[in-house]
Amino acid sequence: MKLQQKLVKVVGAGLVGLLFSAGAQAQFAKPEDAIKYRKAAFTVMGTHFGRIGAMVQGRIPFNAQMAQANAAIVEELSRLPFDAFPQGTNTGDTRAKAEIWSQGDKWKTQSDNMVRAVAALNAAAKTGNADSLRAAFGQAGQTCKACHDDFRRE
Ligand code: HEC
Repeated sequence: MKLQQKLVKVVGAGLVGLLFSAGAQAQFAKPEDAIKYRKAAFTVMGTHFGRIGAMVQGRIPFNAQMAQANAAIVEELSRLPFDAFPQGTNTGDTRAKAEIWSQGDKWKTQSDNMVRAVAALNAAAKTGNADSLRAAFGQAGQTCKACHDDFRRE
C-alpha cells in the first residue's frame, strides 16, 4: 500500500514535469539560448514555407504530396518561435525590436494571425488543389511580412 502511494507520487510528479517542460513556459538558461532557439525555429519554418512558395510561384512543379508535407511542418513549427521571446531579448545577435515588449498586444495579434494563416495553409495543402494552396500561401505570407515590418530590424 505504501509503495503504491509512493509510486503514484513519483509518476504524478513526472507527469507534471513533462507538462511544464513541453508547455508554453519554455525556459532558457541564457538570453542567447532563446535567441538561438527562435532564429532556428524561424529558419526551419521559413525553409519549408519557401518550398511551398517555389511551387505556387511555378519555380518548381506543383506536387500535392510535397506541398502537404511542407505545410504540415510549417504549421507544427509556427508556434515555437513565440515561446522564445523572453522580455528584453532585443540585444545581441538578434533583429528583434524592443517594440515586441512595449506593443505586446499587437505582437500577440500578429503572431496569432500567422499561426491561424499557416493552419489554413495546411488545410489548403490537404485539399491537393493548387489554386487553394496559392491563395492560402499569399495570405500567410502577408502575416509574415506584417510582423517583420513592425517588429524585425533590417
Ligand atoms: C509576430 C511576428 C512574426 C511573424 C508573424 C513572423 N515572424 Fe519571422 N521573425 C520575427 C522576428 C522578430 C524575427 C527576428 C528574430 C531574431 O533575430 O531574434 C524573425 C525572423 C525570421 C527569420 C530569420 C531567422 C534568422 O535566422 O535570423 C525568418 C526566416 C523568418 N522570420 C521567417 C518567417 C516566416 C516564413 C513567417 C511567416 C510564415 C514569419 N517569419 C512570421 C517575427 C515574426
